[in-house]
Amino acid sequence: MRAIEIAQAGGPEVLEWREVPDPRPEQGEVIIEVTAAGVNRADVHQRNGFYDPPPGASPYPGLEVSGVVSEIGAGVEGFAPGDEVCALLSGGGYAERVAVPWQQVMPVPDGVPLVRAAALPEVACTVWSNVFMLARLRRGETLLVHGGASGIGTFAVQLAKALGSRVITTVGSAAKAERVAELGADEVINYREEDFADKARADVILDIMGAKYLSGNIRALNNGGRLVIIGLQGGRKAEIDLGALLAKRATVHATTLRARPADDKGAIARSVVDNVWPLVSAGAVRPVVYAEVPMSQAAEAHRMLDSGNHIGKILLVR
Ligand SMILES: NC(=O)c1ccc[n+]([C@@H]2O[C@H](COP(=O)([O-])OP(=O)(O)OC[C@H]3O[C@@H](n4cnc5c(N)ncnc54)[C@H](OP(=O)(O)O)[C@@H]3O)[C@@H](O)[C@H]2O)c1
Repeated sequence: MRAIEIAQAGGPEVLEWREVPDPRPEQGEVIIEVTAAGVNRADVHQRNGFYDPPPGASPYPGLEVSGVVSEIGAGVEGFAPGDEVCALLSGGGYAERVAVPWQQVMPVPDGVPLVRAAALPEVACTVWSNVFMLARLRRGETLLVHGGASGIGTFAVQLAKALGSRVITTVGSAAKAERVAELGADEVINYREEDFADKARADVILDIMGAKYLSGNIRALNNGGRLVIIGLQGGRKAEIDLGALLAKRATVHATTLRARPADDKGAIARSVVDNVWPLVSAGAVRPVVYAEVPMSQAAEAHRMLDSGNHIGKILLVR
């Protein structure tokens, strides 16, 4: 098969479309003939040499795909060759075929074209597991989502609205502000013009900035608030005012999806299929796709992501 290899750490030009060995299904694995793969910020970190795949994972980038099951290994439950699926991966999505533990494979939500289903696994599993399973956002509460126009943000805004919350979000341009308002955000803050911590008050915060926003996020939490950090775009080390936290009885979580074992990812995927896919099928939450780029031109897709102008997801298509 062919796959995108990272020739060496560096810019988008290091992504090369090459002939590589086909994956074989190990015990409990499904082989997916890939239709499309989602591009994630983590792939850029991996390309730059800052984010190695976890032990045992494919060396090729790509954390999510859609496609058709072509082979199944021993011990696989619930899937058969010919099934149209999407899947959360530990790596290897930028390829014609990928092996994945069956627990991480999900049916395509009714009504979603197979290509666009590649935009869903990473954002749906990340947002559902962090905002709802971990931080337990409830109907009527307020969610603050940083980077509302990101792949993660566009999904979080829609899902929280669909489940009855008030949503505040931050963006860096007027064009992005307009788009996230269309997606349902109740309040949009341009972080280049205003300090979000002066304005926003929230019960749950989904943060992608890490150190840079830590004190502002704690200031923005309501009593009993829950801050969930899933990205470190603004650095990893910061001081924390424990006094402010205990006065508010607030909690700070930090999580990553990729390094979790297959059973953990499987439990999240099943919960997503039960709770989120019905909302996607009903059209209450839609995949937001900015561009579809041929997989052999993954470098072009990374240039787009690096430019930061995208809104929602960029897909690689076969
Ligand atoms: N822990 C996990 O399991 C997990 C899983 C998936 C993703 N993530 C993380 O989630 C983040 C989003 O991922 P993605 O793939 O959706 O990336 P993406 O589409 O490239 O989004 C990055 C976003 O960061 C925003 N941003 C940059 N500076 C900002 C600031 N000062 N304040 C607020 N927003 C700012 C950008 O928005 P503007 O252009 O509007 O500034 C952009 O929308 C990444 O940090 C990624 O690593 C974590």
